[in-house]
Amino acid sequence: MLGSWLILRWALNQMDPNKNAKAMAKLRKKELAKRLGRPVNLDGQYEDVVAQAVINPAAIDVTLEDVGGLDHIIEDVTRNVITPMRHPEHFRSNLLRQKRGVLLYGPPGTGKTMLAKALARECNACFILLKSSTILSKWYGDSNKLVAAVWSLASKLQPCILFIDEVDSLLGQRSHQEHEATTAIKTEFMQARALGGLHPAGLGRAGRALSLPLWEGFETTGRSNILVLGATNKKDRLDDAVLRRFSLQYEVKLPNVTQREAILRLTLQRHAREIGPENIEPQLLPLGAADGGSGLAWLAERTDGFSGSDLVQLCSQAAAVPIQEHIE
Ligand SMILES: Nc1ncnc2c1ncn2[C@@H]1O[C@H](COP(=O)(O)OP(=O)(O)OP(=O)(O)O)[C@@H](O)[C@H]1O
Ligand SMILES: [Mg+2]
Repeated sequence: MLGSWLILRWALNQMDPNKNAKAMAKLRKKELAKRLGRPVNLDGQYEDVVAQAVINPAAIDVTLEDVGGLDHIIEDVTRNVITPMRHPEHFRSNLLRQKRGVLLYGPPGTGKTMLAKALARECNACFILLKSSTILSKWYGDSNKLVAAVWSLASKLQPCILFIDEVDSLLGQRSHQEHEATTAIKTEFMQARALGGLHPAGLGRAGRALSLPLWEGFETTGRSNILVLGATNKKDRLDDAVLRRFSLQYEVKLPNVTQREAILRLTLQRHAREIGPENIEPQLLPLGAADGGSGLAWLAERTDGFSGSDLVQLCSQAAAVPIQEHIE
């Protein structure tokens, strides 16, 4: 009797069309718990999809000190975002209410994504990295459930930074030609409401659907610890309603001469640190990194128009030259 029941169960299991998906979900849940250092309850396949974009702050390898030339932004963000996220108990009044949306905008390669990651690390906050291009391809059809899952998972993971890279492609201005599903995603993102059974900490009691759209809810309760951080190099494409939700906006421009020197110095210092001084002859480090970078001011003068990313590329090529000569 028991034998036939077991065989029947095994056979049914084999026929389950979602068998592989379920096994994968279980594996990912385990992996997520390991990454975060605590178990997380994922509700269904949609949260499971979003969970793949979660990064443990401890695993982020860039720090604020690695970001060159953006001290003015870092200082402001520290006061307005990092301190409130790290010490929410001091920011309860309406006046001190935490700012809920931060937008970084500016030309490509200027360090927006890098800064966002470093911020998550500094806040010791879970980081959900949503790249619009990836999301849009996956989300057609099921946008409302996935968007709700983004918000619900973010609330489970508090403190949490929800980072939307290329935010213009996800929440850009509505146009006549755009795909219907894209419009649906935007609307859903702006108006996502807590579903029955969802009870983000500080937002409402278990099971009580909230009347406020979630984003507004996060903004107005002042008790949740979720930050929406967006990055774009096409700010002019953003919907007005979206722009309003980003209460703090920082332009990340191409670096000036002083900033270029700072980026060059930090990049070479990091390179030297990674190699380890004991493993390499000082003369093999490019551009005098070992002697304090005396050639860097000269180089910074001659790299007008370079982005941070271009400067790192330049250093990378320069770093390979002495190694090549050494090998030869
Ligand atoms: N200010 C900076 N300080 C140090 N490194 C930088 C800086 N800006 C850019 N870089 C280097 O360039 C790389 C790419 O930068 P990042 O991806 O953050 O640019 P971005 O502004 O997000 O660009 P995009 O708009 O194309 O997404 C970084 O990983 C880093 O190595
Ligand atoms: Mg980027």
